[in-house]
Amino acid sequence: MIVVESASLDDLADILDLEAHFDTPWSEDSWREELTGGGRLTLVARDCPGGVAGVAAFQLVDEVADLHRIVVAPGHRRLGFARVMLVSGLQWAIGCGARRMMLEVDSANDPAVRLYRGYGFTPVATRRDYYGTGVDALVMERRLEGVDADSVGMWDLEEN
Ligand SMILES: CC(C)(COP(=O)(O)OP(=O)(O)OC[C@H]1O[C@@H](n2cnc3c(N)ncnc32)[C@H](O)[C@@H]1OP(=O)(O)O)[C@@H](O)C(=O)NCCC(=O)NCCS
Repeated sequence: MIVVESASLDDLADILDLEAHFDTPWSEDSWREELTGGGRLTLVARDCPGGVAGVAAFQLVDEVADLHRIVVAPGHRRLGFARVMLVSGLQWAIGCGARRMMLEVDSANDPAVRLYRGYGFTPVATRRDYYGTGVDALVMERRLEGVDADSVGMWDLEEN
């Protein structure tokens, strides 16, 4: 069972533990900003009985939502944790009146690019050397105008 809920500062230690799995972890200050800043939604995904298995951070500025980060612990991948957090973030953005959601991803990050494409994100630009020399970022966009929050998670079923 996957439980997704809005994160608070009480989750900070668990989020930092999760980040420790990655080569490029976000700092404690960055996560504090996500957890306390304006226009933010930070979600944690837990398995039963409750350990933090994933985290996702979104921000809304005017009518554009941004997905800042989504990570799932290695032992919990391919179980749908990212799907549930992404759909929840899209529903939140629609509920807030966002016209689109944007994100940047390493163009070579096949798992993440496939995840995003499955929910209707399409590439709109490439930022050369964004993550370092030879490591490009793909800028991806999902339009949300006129999209029903209840059906936003059905995109991959309709399109693929
Ligand atoms: C990308 C990431 C968040 C996916 O999390 P996840 O919980 O394993 O993803 P899900 O189980 O929800 O998968 C949803 C879909 O994404 C795609 N996907 C996810 N992982 C994939 C992989 N390793 N290979 C190919 N497709 C993949 C598939 O379409 C998958 O659907 P399917 O399992 O029915 O085929 C996870 O691999 C991760 O934390 N990676 C490291 C951090 C990262 O790169 N984050 C993204 C940039 S911030």
